[in-house]
Amino acid sequence: MARLRCAVLISGRGTNLEALIRACAQKDFPAEIALVISNRADAGGLAHAARAKIANAVIPHRDYPSREAFEAALTKTLEAAGIQLICLAGFMRLLTAGFVDHWRDRIINIHPSLLPAFPGLDTHARALAEGVRFAGCTVHFVRAEMDHGPIIVQAAVPVLPGDDEASLAARVLTAEHRAYPLALKLIGAGRVKVVGERTAIAGMSGGAPTLLNPADDQGG
Ligand code: GRF
Repeated sequence: MARLRCAVLISGRGTNLEALIRACAQKDFPAEIALVISNRADAGGLAHAARAKIANAVIPHRDYPSREAFEAALTKTLEAAGIQLICLAGFMRLLTAGFVDHWRDRIINIHPSLLPAFPGLDTHARALAEGVRFAGCTVHFVRAEMDHGPIIVQAAVPVLPGDDEASLAARVLTAEHRAYPLALKLIGAGRVKVVGERTAIAGMSGGAPTLLNPADDQGG
């Protein structure tokens, strides 16, 4: 079966891109990364694309007079490459409703929180300030409202005593590198359908155990 042609959009270091490249290199993985686009020439992630010999382009948003003009350039490049799915991976530009609607249910994003909790920036600091016992990440279809849209995969990690922003971010990032490839695999295999504003996943096995944090071994 033909593999789903994906583009990954980045702005920075690209560790999620790297995880997706690794996944796509697996035999029988149902998706391929045909293009990487960065809006910044200095994005570290571009090196991952080059190393994997994936076509890559820099489209600097500052070269365009408006958001719409920038996005028109994105769409032109994406369509010329026959892209079927856009994966945002640390792409730090807000997208207009026009762009999001054009690519409706064909753009996904990864966000480092268990949405709908903590959309936006500084998620880890905010999670620590709230004292939540679990943090995590969410892969979701993109809607015009930031960090919002039908959820595909979530991964939860515990918040541990002594955590600071850096340690929690590192734990969540490790989970991101599992969640994003899983979401892409499910979509590539044609198992994900958007129904209303939720997703239905064909043949999904729940299976995750209930987690307690702290664990129930505290005595008393
Ligand atoms: C990740 O934490 C992702 O969830 C968020 O931006 C960060 C990108 O990291 N959207 P990387 O560039 O993939 O390493």
